[in-house]
Amino acid sequence: MISILDNKVLLARQIEEVAEVAGYLWQKGWAERNGGNITINITDVIDDEIRQKEAISGRMPIGRTLPHLKGCWFFCKGTNKRMRDLARRPMENGSVIRITDDCNHYEIVADKPVKPTSELASHLSMHNYLIGKGSNYKAALHTHPIDLVAMTHHPPFLKKDVLTRLLWSMIPETRAFCPLGLGIVPYALPSSFALADATIQQLDEYDVVMWEKHGVCSVGENITEAFDKVDTLSKSAQIYLTAKSMGFEPEGMSQEQMNELKEAFGLPK
Ligand code: 13P
Ligand code: ZN
Repeated sequence: MISILDNKVLLARQIEEVAEVAGYLWQKGWAERNGGNITINITDVIDDEIRQKEAISGRMPIGRTLPHLKGCWFFCKGTNKRMRDLARRPMENGSVIRITDDCNHYEIVADKPVKPTSELASHLSMHNYLIGKGSNYKAALHTHPIDLVAMTHHPPFLKKDVLTRLLWSMIPETRAFCPLGLGIVPYALPSSFALADATIQQLDEYDVVMWEKHGVCSVGENITEAFDKVDTLSKSAQIYLTAKSMGFEPEGMSQEQMNELKEAFGLPK
C-alpha cells in the first residue's frame, strides 16, 4: 500500500514538474500556439492500479519497432495542445501512453483521449536510444527558442561545433552546464523519421540538438534538467545578440580560458 501511494505521489510530482516547465516555455516566448513538446518516461512510477487500466484507444502504430521500449509508459504533451494550457491543466493537455509488447504500437491510457504529440517519432526514438545505451535520462524536450533558431538561419553556424564554441565562449556557465555542446540536425520534415534518425545520431555525442530552422531538442534525467540546458544556451545566444546589437562582435572567452574551465571542473570535452 505504501509503495502504491509512493508511486502515485512520484507520478504526480513528475507531471507537476512538466506543467511547471511548460509554463516557463510559454513565458520565454518559445511556445507559440502548440509549439514544442515534452515526453517523460514514467515507467518506474506506474503502480498496479494504473498498470491494469484498460486502454481508451486502439493500438496506434508508431511506424517502426523500438525494441527497448517494451512495456514502457510515457507522459506526453498532446498534439496541437498549447504549452500554456499544459501548464495549467496537464492531464487535459497531455496523454499517458504505454508501448505494446510488439514495440511497434502504443495505446492511450488516461481518462481523456488526448492524442500524443506529432513528434512522437523523434521522442520515442530518443527514449529508445537512451535506454539502449543504459542512460538514466528520462525526459525529452523539444521547443522553439527564438535566439537559437535564428542562429540556425546562418549557414556558417551549422558547421560542426561552430555554434558550440561560440555559445560556450559567451559565459563560463554555458561551458560548465552544457559540457557536451550542441549538435546540429539539417532541416528535415517535422514529425518525420528522417528527423528522428538524424536526432538520435547526434545524441551519440550531444545531449542538446538543434533542428535547423525549427527548434531545439534536449534530453536529461528530468524535464527541469533538459530545460536548464536549453535555457543556458539561450542565455549565451542572448549575450551574443546583445553585443551584436550594440554594434560590436563579442570577443568571447579565449580557448585558454575555456580549457582552464575544462580542467577546473573536470568537463568531458
Ligand atoms: P505538437 O503539437 O504535435 O506537439 O507539435 C508541435 C511542434 O513543435 C512540432 O514540431
Ligand atoms: Zn516544433
